[in-house]
Amino acid sequence: MKVKVSLFGLTDMLRFKNLAKNRLEAIENTKAEKLPEYPINDLAKYYHPYKQHLLIKDIREENETSKTFVLVPDAAEGTSKLAPFKAGSYISLYVDVHGEFISRAYAVSSSPEDAEKGIYEITVKRKEGGIVSGYLLDEAKIGDKLFSTEPGGFLTYDGLRDAKDVVAVAGGTGITPFVSMAKAISEGSEDFNLTILYGVKKESDIIYRAFLDGLKGKVKVVYVLEEGELPGAEKGLIDADLIRKYAPKGKAYSVFASGPNGLLDHMEKEVAKLGLPKKYFRLEHSPFTLEGDKNVYKMKVHVEGEVVEATARGDETVLAALERTHVVIRAKCHLGGCGYCRSRLLSGEIKTTKLSKVTDVDKDLHYFHPCCSYPVSDIEVEVYPY
Ligand code: FES
Repeated sequence: MKVKVSLFGLTDMLRFKNLAKNRLEAIENTKAEKLPEYPINDLAKYYHPYKQHLLIKDIREENETSKTFVLVPDAAEGTSKLAPFKAGSYISLYVDVHGEFISRAYAVSSSPEDAEKGIYEITVKRKEGGIVSGYLLDEAKIGDKLFSTEPGGFLTYDGLRDAKDVVAVAGGTGITPFVSMAKAISEGSEDFNLTILYGVKKESDIIYRAFLDGLKGKVKVVYVLEEGELPGAEKGLIDADLIRKYAPKGKAYSVFASGPNGLLDHMEKEVAKLGLPKKYFRLEHSPFTLEGDKNVYKMKVHVEGEVVEATARGDETVLAALERTHVVIRAKCHLGGCGYCRSRLLSGEIKTTKLSKVTDVDKDLHYFHPCCSYPVSDIEVEVYPY
Protein backbone atom coordinates (compact mmCIF):
# COMPACT_ATOMS: atom_id res chain seq x y z
CA MET A 1 0.00 0.00 0.00
CA LYS A 2 2.84 2.34 0.92
CA VAL A 3 4.49 1.70 -2.49
CA LYS A 4 1.21 2.41 -4.29
CA VAL A 5 0.80 5.79 -2.54
CA SER A 6 4.36 6.73 -3.48
CA LEU A 7 3.76 5.79 -7.11
CA PHE A 8 0.61 7.88 -7.23
CA GLY A 9 2.57 10.71 -5.66
CA LEU A 10 5.29 10.39 -8.28
CA THR A 11 2.75 10.40 -11.13
CA ASP A 12 1.11 13.47 -9.64
CA MET A 13 4.44 15.24 -9.36
CA LEU A 14 5.21 14.50 -13.00
CA ARG A 15 1.79 15.75 -14.04
CA PHE A 16 2.27 18.99 -12.12
CA LYS A 17 5.78 19.41 -13.47
CA ASN A 18 4.38 19.53 -17.00
CA LEU A 19 1.15 21.33 -16.08
CA ALA A 20 2.02 24.69 -17.63
CA LYS A 21 3.40 23.11 -20.82
CA ASN A 22 0.44 20.71 -21.22
CA ARG A 23 -2.07 23.46 -20.53
CA LEU A 24 -0.47 25.72 -23.12
CA GLU A 25 -0.55 22.90 -25.69
CA ALA A 26 -4.19 22.16 -24.89
CA ILE A 27 -5.12 25.85 -25.24
CA GLU A 28 -3.28 26.15 -28.55
CA ASN A 29 -4.86 22.97 -29.95
CA THR A 30 -8.42 23.81 -28.90
CA LYS A 31 -10.71 25.07 -31.65
CA ALA A 32 -12.85 28.10 -30.80
CA GLU A 33 -16.30 26.55 -31.22
CA LYS A 34 -19.56 27.97 -29.97
CA LEU A 35 -21.08 25.96 -27.12
CA PRO A 36 -24.59 24.56 -27.65
CA GLU A 37 -27.40 26.61 -26.03
CA TYR A 38 -28.91 24.88 -22.98
CA PRO A 39 -31.84 26.35 -20.95
CA ILE A 40 -29.55 26.64 -17.92
CA ASN A 41 -27.43 29.05 -19.97
CA ASP A 42 -30.25 31.64 -19.82
CA LEU A 43 -30.13 31.54 -16.03
CA ALA A 44 -26.34 31.73 -16.06
CA LYS A 45 -26.48 34.75 -18.40
CA TYR A 46 -29.02 36.45 -16.12
CA TYR A 47 -26.78 36.04 -13.07
CA HIS A 48 -23.48 36.56 -14.89
CA PRO A 49 -24.07 38.61 -18.06
CA TYR A 50 -20.98 39.11 -20.16
CA LYS A 51 -21.94 42.72 -20.81
CA GLN A 52 -24.89 44.87 -19.70
CA HIS A 53 -26.00 47.69 -21.98
CA LEU A 54 -27.35 50.62 -19.98
CA LEU A 55 -29.05 53.98 -20.44
CA ILE A 56 -28.91 56.97 -18.12
CA LYS A 57 -32.54 57.40 -17.04
CA ASP A 58 -32.05 60.18 -14.51
CA ILE A 59 -29.32 62.31 -12.92
CA ARG A 60 -29.65 63.69 -9.38
CA GLU A 61 -27.38 66.26 -7.85
CA GLU A 62 -26.22 65.14 -4.38
CA ASN A 63 -24.02 68.10 -3.50
CA GLU A 64 -21.55 70.48 -5.19
CA THR A 65 -19.20 67.68 -6.17
CA SER A 66 -21.36 64.55 -6.54
CA LYS A 67 -24.22 63.33 -8.67
CA THR A 68 -26.22 60.10 -8.65
CA PHE A 69 -26.91 58.39 -11.98
CA VAL A 70 -29.97 56.18 -12.41
CA LEU A 71 -29.16 53.44 -14.93
CA VAL A 72 -31.66 51.17 -16.66
CA PRO A 73 -31.29 48.33 -19.21
CA ASP A 74 -30.88 49.36 -22.83
CA ALA A 75 -33.25 46.95 -24.58
CA ALA A 76 -32.33 48.35 -28.01
CA GLU A 77 -28.79 47.02 -27.45
CA GLY A 78 -30.01 43.61 -26.19
CA THR A 79 -30.14 44.04 -22.40
CA SER A 80 -33.69 43.50 -21.13
CA LYS A 81 -33.00 43.02 -17.40
CA LEU A 82 -30.24 43.75 -14.96
CA ALA A 83 -28.17 41.15 -13.14
CA PRO A 84 -29.04 40.63 -9.48
CA PHE A 85 -26.43 41.40 -6.84
CA LYS A 86 -25.73 41.40 -3.12
CA ALA A 87 -25.87 44.79 -1.40
CA GLY A 88 -22.37 46.27 -1.27
CA SER A 89 -21.38 45.14 -4.79
CA TYR A 90 -19.91 47.29 -7.55
CA ILE A 91 -20.02 47.35 -11.34
CA SER A 92 -17.31 48.29 -13.79
CA LEU A 93 -18.88 50.99 -15.91
CA TYR A 94 -17.66 51.78 -19.44
CA VAL A 95 -18.21 55.42 -20.32
CA ASP A 96 -17.88 56.79 -23.83
CA VAL A 97 -15.71 59.85 -23.24
CA HIS A 98 -15.61 61.56 -26.65
CA GLY A 99 -15.31 58.27 -28.53
CA GLU A 100 -12.98 56.57 -26.06
CA PHE A 101 -14.51 53.89 -23.81
CA ILE A 102 -13.00 54.21 -20.34
CA SER A 103 -13.86 51.83 -17.49
CA ARG A 104 -14.22 52.66 -13.79
CA ALA A 105 -15.56 50.64 -10.85
CA TYR A 106 -18.52 52.16 -8.99
CA ALA A 107 -20.38 50.73 -5.99
CA VAL A 108 -24.09 50.28 -6.62
CA SER A 109 -26.05 52.39 -4.13
CA SER A 110 -29.50 51.10 -5.06
CA SER A 111 -30.90 47.92 -3.53
CA PRO A 112 -31.03 44.35 -4.88
CA GLU A 113 -34.83 44.84 -5.11
CA ASP A 114 -34.28 47.88 -7.36
CA ALA A 115 -32.19 45.70 -9.69
CA GLU A 116 -35.17 43.35 -10.07
CA LYS A 117 -37.19 46.43 -11.11
CA GLY A 118 -34.47 47.32 -13.66
CA ILE A 119 -32.54 50.02 -11.79
CA TYR A 120 -28.94 50.46 -10.71
CA GLU A 121 -27.85 53.71 -9.08
CA ILE A 122 -24.27 54.87 -8.79
CA THR A 123 -22.91 58.06 -7.24
CA VAL A 124 -19.95 59.83 -8.82
CA LYS A 125 -17.77 62.35 -6.99
CA ARG A 126 -15.52 64.75 -8.83
CA LYS A 127 -11.90 63.62 -8.69
CA GLU A 128 -9.20 66.17 -9.35
CA GLY A 129 -8.09 65.60 -12.94
CA GLY A 130 -10.49 62.62 -13.22
CA ILE A 131 -11.40 62.03 -16.88
CA VAL A 132 -14.46 59.88 -16.21
CA SER A 133 -15.80 61.72 -13.16
CA GLY A 134 -15.33 65.05 -14.96
CA TYR A 135 -17.13 63.78 -18.04
CA LEU A 136 -20.01 62.22 -16.11
CA LEU A 137 -20.55 65.27 -13.90
CA ASP A 138 -20.19 67.91 -16.61
CA GLU A 139 -21.30 66.35 -19.88
CA ALA A 140 -23.29 63.12 -19.44
CA LYS A 141 -27.03 63.52 -19.98
CA ILE A 142 -30.25 61.54 -19.73
CA GLY A 143 -30.50 59.01 -22.58
CA ASP A 144 -26.73 58.47 -22.91
CA LYS A 145 -25.63 54.89 -23.51
CA LEU A 146 -23.04 53.05 -21.42
CA PHE A 147 -22.24 49.46 -20.63
CA SER A 148 -21.02 47.54 -17.63
CA THR A 149 -19.81 44.20 -16.34
CA GLU A 150 -21.92 42.10 -14.00
CA PRO A 151 -21.92 43.30 -10.36
CA GLY A 152 -19.44 41.73 -7.92
CA GLY A 153 -17.12 42.40 -5.01
CA PHE A 154 -16.26 41.34 -1.49
CA LEU A 155 -17.79 44.07 0.63
CA THR A 156 -21.02 42.16 1.08
CA TYR A 157 -22.66 40.64 4.17
CA ASP A 158 -22.39 36.89 4.61
CA GLY A 159 -24.32 35.46 7.57
CA LEU A 160 -21.98 32.45 7.80
CA ARG A 161 -18.83 34.57 8.03
CA ASP A 162 -19.84 37.95 9.48
CA ALA A 163 -21.15 38.85 12.93
CA LYS A 164 -24.81 39.80 13.26
CA ASP A 165 -23.77 43.36 14.13
CA VAL A 166 -21.71 45.37 11.65
CA VAL A 167 -20.01 48.71 12.25
CA ALA A 168 -19.48 50.30 8.84
CA VAL A 169 -16.83 52.98 8.37
CA ALA A 170 -17.47 55.17 5.33
CA GLY A 171 -15.55 58.10 3.88
CA GLY A 172 -16.87 60.33 1.07
CA THR A 173 -18.67 58.35 -1.66
CA GLY A 174 -17.58 55.22 0.26
CA ILE A 175 -21.04 55.56 1.81
CA THR A 176 -22.68 54.12 -1.33
CA PRO A 177 -22.27 50.36 -0.60
CA PHE A 178 -23.72 50.99 2.87
CA VAL A 179 -26.66 52.90 1.40
CA SER A 180 -27.39 49.76 -0.62
CA MET A 181 -27.07 47.60 2.53
CA ALA A 182 -29.34 49.95 4.50
CA LYS A 183 -31.97 49.73 1.74
CA ALA A 184 -31.66 45.93 1.61
CA ILE A 185 -32.12 45.72 5.41
CA SER A 186 -35.17 48.02 5.24
CA GLU A 187 -36.63 45.92 2.41
CA GLY A 188 -35.96 42.66 4.27
CA SER A 189 -33.53 41.04 1.82
CA GLU A 190 -30.65 41.38 4.34
CA ASP A 191 -30.92 40.72 8.06
CA PHE A 192 -28.24 42.26 10.26
CA ASN A 193 -27.72 45.31 12.47
CA LEU A 194 -25.79 48.09 10.77
CA THR A 195 -24.20 51.10 12.46
CA ILE A 196 -22.65 53.46 9.92
CA LEU A 197 -19.90 55.86 10.98
CA TYR A 198 -19.89 58.30 8.08
CA GLY A 199 -16.79 60.48 7.98
CA VAL A 200 -16.82 63.73 5.97
CA LYS A 201 -14.82 66.91 6.05
CA LYS A 202 -17.83 69.20 6.53
CA GLU A 203 -21.60 68.92 6.72
CA SER A 204 -22.17 69.90 3.08
CA ASP A 205 -20.08 66.87 1.97
CA ILE A 206 -22.76 64.47 3.27
CA ILE A 207 -24.57 62.74 0.43
CA TYR A 208 -27.85 60.78 0.69
CA ARG A 209 -28.61 63.03 3.68
CA ALA A 210 -32.43 62.76 3.57
CA PHE A 211 -32.28 58.99 3.17
CA LEU A 212 -29.70 58.54 5.95
CA ASP A 213 -31.59 60.83 8.34
CA GLY A 214 -34.76 58.82 7.80
CA LEU A 215 -33.21 55.46 8.71
CA LYS A 216 -34.31 53.68 11.88
CA GLY A 217 -34.68 50.16 13.29
CA LYS A 218 -31.70 47.98 12.48
CA VAL A 219 -29.72 50.79 10.82
CA LYS A 220 -28.14 53.70 12.69
CA VAL A 221 -26.04 56.50 11.17
CA VAL A 222 -23.48 58.64 13.01
CA TYR A 223 -21.88 61.53 11.11
CA VAL A 224 -18.24 62.22 11.93
CA LEU A 225 -17.17 65.72 10.89
CA GLU A 226 -13.62 66.97 10.56
CA GLU A 227 -14.78 70.60 10.55
CA GLY A 228 -17.85 72.38 11.93
CA GLU A 229 -20.64 71.25 14.23
CA LEU A 230 -23.78 69.18 13.71
CA PRO A 231 -26.11 68.07 16.54
CA GLY A 232 -25.50 64.39 17.37
CA ALA A 233 -22.38 64.20 15.19
CA GLU A 234 -18.91 63.18 16.34
CA LYS A 235 -15.84 65.29 15.58
CA GLY A 236 -12.42 64.32 14.25
CA LEU A 237 -11.28 61.14 12.55
CA ILE A 238 -12.79 57.69 12.89
CA ASP A 239 -10.52 55.53 15.03
CA ALA A 240 -10.57 52.41 17.20
CA ASP A 241 -12.05 54.29 20.18
CA LEU A 242 -14.96 55.61 18.13
CA ILE A 243 -15.69 52.16 16.70
CA ARG A 244 -15.64 50.73 20.27
CA LYS A 245 -18.04 53.45 21.40
CA TYR A 246 -20.67 52.48 18.82
CA ALA A 247 -20.02 48.72 18.63
CA PRO A 248 -22.40 46.46 20.58
CA LYS A 249 -21.12 45.71 24.08
CA GLY A 250 -20.29 42.13 24.97
CA LYS A 251 -21.20 40.84 21.51
CA ALA A 252 -19.22 39.92 18.40
CA TYR A 253 -19.23 42.52 15.63
CA SER A 254 -17.75 42.94 12.17
CA VAL A 255 -16.18 46.08 10.75
CA PHE A 256 -16.66 46.96 7.09
CA ALA A 257 -14.79 49.92 5.59
CA SER A 258 -15.23 51.78 2.31
CA GLY A 259 -13.71 55.01 1.08
CA PRO A 260 -10.45 56.48 -0.20
CA ASN A 261 -7.35 54.29 0.17
CA GLY A 262 -5.88 56.70 2.75
CA LEU A 263 -8.87 56.07 5.02
CA LEU A 264 -8.65 52.30 4.46
CA ASP A 265 -4.93 52.23 5.33
CA HIS A 266 -5.75 54.18 8.50
CA MET A 267 -8.59 51.77 9.33
CA GLU A 268 -6.34 48.74 8.93
CA LYS A 269 -4.15 50.15 11.72
CA GLU A 270 -7.09 51.17 13.91
CA VAL A 271 -9.02 47.91 13.53
CA ALA A 272 -5.86 45.98 14.47
CA LYS A 273 -6.18 47.63 17.94
CA LEU A 274 -9.64 46.11 18.37
CA GLY A 275 -8.33 42.54 18.32
CA LEU A 276 -11.14 41.30 16.07
CA PRO A 277 -10.82 37.91 14.35
CA LYS A 278 -9.57 38.50 10.80
CA LYS A 279 -12.84 37.34 9.26
CA TYR A 280 -14.68 40.20 11.00
CA PHE A 281 -12.87 42.94 9.09
CA ARG A 282 -13.66 43.61 5.47
CA LEU A 283 -12.70 46.43 3.13
CA GLU A 284 -12.50 47.10 -0.55
CA HIS A 285 -9.74 49.32 -1.89
CA SER A 286 -9.97 51.83 -4.71
CA PRO A 287 -7.43 51.36 -7.51
CA PHE A 288 -3.87 52.16 -6.45
CA THR A 289 -1.69 54.43 -8.52
CA LEU A 290 2.04 54.02 -8.86
CA GLU A 291 4.47 56.82 -9.27
CA GLY A 292 5.40 56.15 -12.87
CA ASP A 293 8.13 57.72 -14.99
CA LYS A 294 7.42 60.45 -17.53
CA ASN A 295 8.62 58.39 -20.51
CA VAL A 296 6.43 57.61 -23.48
CA TYR A 297 7.02 54.02 -24.59
CA LYS A 298 6.10 52.21 -27.78
CA MET A 299 3.28 49.68 -27.33
CA LYS A 300 2.47 46.96 -29.86
CA VAL A 301 -0.94 45.39 -29.27
CA HIS A 302 -2.00 42.03 -30.71
CA VAL A 303 -5.76 41.90 -30.76
CA GLU A 304 -7.76 39.24 -32.64
CA GLY A 305 -5.04 38.64 -35.22
CA GLU A 306 -4.36 42.34 -35.84
CA VAL A 307 -1.44 44.38 -34.61
CA VAL A 308 -2.00 47.93 -33.40
CA GLU A 309 0.98 50.26 -32.89
CA ALA A 310 0.46 52.77 -30.08
CA THR A 311 2.15 54.47 -27.15
CA ALA A 312 2.00 53.85 -23.42
CA ARG A 313 3.10 56.41 -20.87
CA GLY A 314 5.18 55.43 -17.87
CA ASP A 315 2.71 57.18 -15.56
CA GLU A 316 -0.43 55.38 -16.78
CA THR A 317 -1.59 51.79 -16.51
CA VAL A 318 -1.41 49.59 -19.57
CA LEU A 319 -5.23 49.45 -19.36
CA ALA A 320 -5.41 53.25 -19.63
CA ALA A 321 -3.03 53.16 -22.60
CA LEU A 322 -5.19 50.52 -24.29
CA GLU A 323 -8.37 52.51 -23.70
CA ARG A 324 -6.67 55.62 -25.08
CA THR A 325 -5.84 53.54 -28.16
CA HIS A 326 -9.53 52.52 -28.51
CA VAL A 327 -8.72 48.89 -27.62
CA VAL A 328 -11.46 47.93 -25.16
CA ILE A 329 -10.79 44.94 -22.91
CA ARG A 330 -12.78 43.51 -20.03
CA ALA A 331 -11.89 45.01 -16.65
CA LYS A 332 -13.79 44.79 -13.40
CA CYS A 333 -11.96 45.38 -10.10
CA HIS A 334 -9.16 47.62 -11.46
CA LEU A 335 -7.09 46.30 -8.57
CA GLY A 336 -5.44 43.19 -9.95
CA GLY A 337 -7.66 40.72 -8.12
CA CYS A 338 -10.51 39.59 -10.39
CA GLY A 339 -8.48 38.49 -13.42
CA TYR A 340 -11.00 39.97 -15.90
CA CYS A 341 -8.35 42.01 -17.71
CA ARG A 342 -5.84 39.11 -17.90
CA SER A 343 -3.60 39.71 -20.92
CA ARG A 344 -0.24 38.50 -22.13
CA LEU A 345 3.06 40.36 -22.06
CA LEU A 346 4.95 39.21 -25.15
CA SER A 347 7.98 41.44 -24.57
CA GLY A 348 9.11 44.36 -22.43
CA GLU A 349 9.02 45.20 -18.74
CA ILE A 350 6.18 46.31 -16.45
CA LYS A 351 5.81 47.08 -12.77
CA THR A 352 2.63 46.30 -10.83
CA THR A 353 0.79 47.66 -7.78
CA LYS A 354 0.82 45.77 -4.50
CA LEU A 355 -2.58 44.07 -4.81
CA SER A 356 -1.97 42.44 -8.19
CA LYS A 357 -2.48 38.69 -7.94
CA VAL A 358 -1.16 36.46 -10.73
CA THR A 359 -0.89 32.70 -10.27
CA ASP A 360 2.50 31.02 -10.68
CA VAL A 361 1.27 29.22 -13.81
CA ASP A 362 0.13 32.53 -15.32
CA LYS A 363 3.46 34.11 -14.43
CA ASP A 364 5.25 31.30 -16.30
CA LEU A 365 3.05 32.00 -19.32
CA HIS A 366 3.64 35.80 -19.02
CA TYR A 367 0.05 36.72 -18.24
CA PHE A 368 -0.41 40.00 -16.38
CA HIS A 369 -3.12 42.45 -15.35
CA PRO A 370 -3.06 45.67 -17.41
CA CYS A 371 -5.35 47.40 -14.86
CA CYS A 372 -2.56 47.63 -12.30
CA SER A 373 0.59 47.41 -14.45
CA TYR A 374 2.72 50.31 -15.64
CA PRO A 375 5.20 50.06 -18.52
CA VAL A 376 8.88 50.65 -17.79
CA SER A 377 10.07 49.91 -21.33
CA ASP A 378 8.59 49.47 -24.81
CA ILE A 379 6.06 46.64 -24.56
CA GLU A 380 4.29 44.16 -26.80
CA VAL A 381 1.04 42.70 -25.47
CA GLU A 382 -1.70 40.31 -26.53
CA VAL A 383 -5.18 41.29 -25.33
CA TYR A 384 -8.73 39.92 -25.62
CA PRO A 385 -11.33 42.49 -26.70
CA TYR A 386 -14.57 43.09 -24.79
S1 FES B 1 -9.74 44.36 -13.74
FE1 FES B 1 -9.56 42.91 -12.12
S2 FES B 1 -7.56 42.13 -12.42
FE2 FES B 1 -7.68 43.76 -13.84
